[in-house]
Amino acid sequence: MKVFVVGSGGREHALVQKLSESPEVDSIWCYPGNAGIRGIAQIPSLVAPEPSILADFAEAQGIDLTVVGPENFLAQGIVDVFRGRGLTIFGPTKAAAQLESSKIFAKALMEKYQIPTANHSVFTDYASAKSYIERVGAPIVIKADGLAAGKGVIVAETVEEALEAAKATLSGQMVGEAGRRIVVEEFLKGQEVSILALCDGSVCVPLSPSQDHKTIGEGDTGPNTGGMGAYSPVPAVDSALEKEIYDTILSPVLAALQAEGIKYTGVLYAGLMLTESGPKVIEFNCRFGDPETQVILPRLKSDLFELLLASCQGRLASLTPIEWDARACVCVIAASKGYPGAYPRGLPIRGLENLGKCNDIRVFHAGTALSSGQIVTAGGRVLGICGLGRDVGEAREQAYTALGEIDFQGIYYRRDIGWRAL
Ligand code: AMP
Ligand code: GLY
Repeated sequence: MKVFVVGSGGREHALVQKLSESPEVDSIWCYPGNAGIRGIAQIPSLVAPEPSILADFAEAQGIDLTVVGPENFLAQGIVDVFRGRGLTIFGPTKAAAQLESSKIFAKALMEKYQIPTANHSVFTDYASAKSYIERVGAPIVIKADGLAAGKGVIVAETVEEALEAAKATLSGQMVGEAGRRIVVEEFLKGQEVSILALCDGSVCVPLSPSQDHKTIGEGDTGPNTGGMGAYSPVPAVDSALEKEIYDTILSPVLAALQAEGIKYTGVLYAGLMLTESGPKVIEFNCRFGDPETQVILPRLKSDLFELLLASCQGRLASLTPIEWDARACVCVIAASKGYPGAYPRGLPIRGLENLGKCNDIRVFHAGTALSSGQIVTAGGRVLGICGLGRDVGEAREQAYTALGEIDFQGIYYRRDIGWRAL
């Protein structure tokens, strides 16, 4: 079988790696890819990363399964374009991807079908937002409606901060058009967990839980990023809680979408807060999480290709239960100095060759590129260094020891990944 993965991050490197291990898979392509993916997948040269051009490629190559990483392609309707041409693709349609591409859509759906989430109100003008924020008080959360690459959410500690965030978002100054409508949301207290589930239109199968570390600073401080590290499994999520999440959130969301005429296929990613009154939805994503995927897939013992193909073909219910490596996996992201703000590119990365042969280490490339035969930095999140171990403590030690081998100018990483599990 021929597989095509769309994307260029650590998530896509982990997907390409795992898919390449399937006995069903003969060849893998990835676009745009990165310097690490280049070692295992072929990278085509295409004129632009547009759904119709990617579909042309898949058709010409005779690709059997396309797997989409990033949300922007899904929000643009890449799945509709591929399906329209009879191509098999893993991901939700444009209508289903609204769960991520419009927070207002997601909140309205949860409200209508009583899926537990934070109380909220929607605003398009500052004066109404201001009087609501002043009435409700802080802490309070301001969210842009549309896709904002992780920069659309402000958790405001004070009313002043909330007002500033609402103004900057609504004016378009903060995240452009994505912020012309905002959700103002109740602040939820607790520990966050990411639950990803494979969906085939009517059935969903949860993957092992993981926990991301969203902020740039240690102790969960500073601005939000795409994610600075993750671990799986999550000791705070036992099997009773997994069942509660399935019964009160995952299954009802799929049923709600179906009632609205939307069949959801692909990954449904529920970002949850474990509050004193049970798990509540912070956000939905319509794709694999990053870095979550980098800690989930190294633990997956079942055949990923088979799982993804079965999702596309509505056959998840007929598969045997997913098998997991009992070990824990911890991923630490090595980022460029300055991220999530501006950062330099093109800096040589040293030490990668030392890690190639370690059994309990996985190195996933994100923002890397090849320049004159040398692997250099090419993004904010550069590498995901993952360690496997008997528990989170041991896995984390593996990851940090491996990270010690790697260097590039200005390398930054959090030193406390996994702290909640220790
Ligand atoms: P989102 O993009 O909606 O996941 O928000 C980004 C991050 O902001 C989340 O991962 C949380 O850390 C935080 N956040 C979002 N909504 C809330 C909320 N209602 N209460 C507390 N923290 C939140
Ligand atoms: N790690 C958060 C995300 O993938 O959105």
